[in-house]
Amino acid sequence: MIVVSGIQPTGNLHLGNYLGAIRNWVKMQDEMEGDGKCLFFLADLHAISLPHNPAELAANTLEMTAALVACGLDPSRCVLFNQAQVPAHAEMQWLLNGTARMGWLNRMTQWKDKAGKNREGQSVALFGYPVLQAADVLLYQATHVPVGEDQKQHLELARDIAQKFNNDFASEESPVFTLPEPFIPPAAARIMSLRDGSKKMSKSDPSDMSRISLTDDADTMAQKVKKAKTDPEPLPSEVEGLTGRPEALNLVTIYAALAESSAEQVLADHGGAGFGQFKPALAELMVSVLSPIRDRFVELKDDREQLDAILARGAAQARELGTPTLDAAYKALGLVRG
Ligand code: TYM
Repeated sequence: MIVVSGIQPTGNLHLGNYLGAIRNWVKMQDEMEGDGKCLFFLADLHAISLPHNPAELAANTLEMTAALVACGLDPSRCVLFNQAQVPAHAEMQWLLNGTARMGWLNRMTQWKDKAGKNREGQSVALFGYPVLQAADVLLYQATHVPVGEDQKQHLELARDIAQKFNNDFASEESPVFTLPEPFIPPAAARIMSLRDGSKKMSKSDPSDMSRISLTDDADTMAQKVKKAKTDPEPLPSEVEGLTGRPEALNLVTIYAALAESSAEQVLADHGGAGFGQFKPALAELMVSVLSPIRDRFVELKDDREQLDAILARGAAQARELGTPTLDAAYKALGLVRG
């Protein structure tokens, strides 16, 4: 089993990233026990596909590294690195650009959402973004890619690219690429904005009140939960009662994910309660789960030497692990390298 996944260092780690992805990365790392490999990376190359501030990107990359370690990723048990220190990601993207089709990329919902009506004005990097994401996982022969629901389509594209490349340039007996499986945790695959239950919780939402950041202190978290949008009805006692109540559903989903329980169980315990009662209970649970992470983060975030060392070590391991597949891809395409 080879597990590969990434996160863009475009801002603070938020609850959606944590419950939708990172917590699962930590579980996979913990359960692996030397049986296979886990590679987790900062997708800094992806972050330049939208207008960005270079100084902020550099700071965010280090900060996000500290946040991932604070969440429980252990650089001695997983390979933790940033893409920019492993040139094979960009090289592999170029090799795959010959296989990816414009039509496939045009259908990506993230491209459509981010480009909006102004497609002509977008960077080529934003359009080609999913090809780099395919390169990220195919480079290491990933078998499992733990992601939130929103990344599923990109992973399906990675499979399509791998399949076409294998068909066009390799024999059936010795394919160049393994087809990766998206792995979406059943609980908390999708955490929504606290201000609008129809939008996902996101780093790019202009309102800080829409998301819980892992760097928020206890009071800020409690305030954000208190101010979260809801409706006037009390909680139902069955999940069906949440239909048409996206904000209520979101808070129940968050509670269930934090408690490692299910929406059914949360409603069995809290059905009938109004939000005046449920929100403080949710805030208390949130603070108890996230405070230890925040404490570790604060300890590590300014230790530049340690963060640089973690990334350098991870990059060296990643470079070594990616070399055989990169070489095989160059060779399959007939590119002469001496
Ligand atoms: P990114 O940086 O937007 O998010 C990182 C991970 O967090 C998940 N996530 C969420 N899950 C639940 N609810 C939410 N509101 C929420 N917001 C984010 C994402 O699904 C993701 O798993 N393109 C990717 C980064 C990437 C990548 C890869 C991932 C680059 N290469 C290769 C996997 C494999 C992205 O922008 O994720």
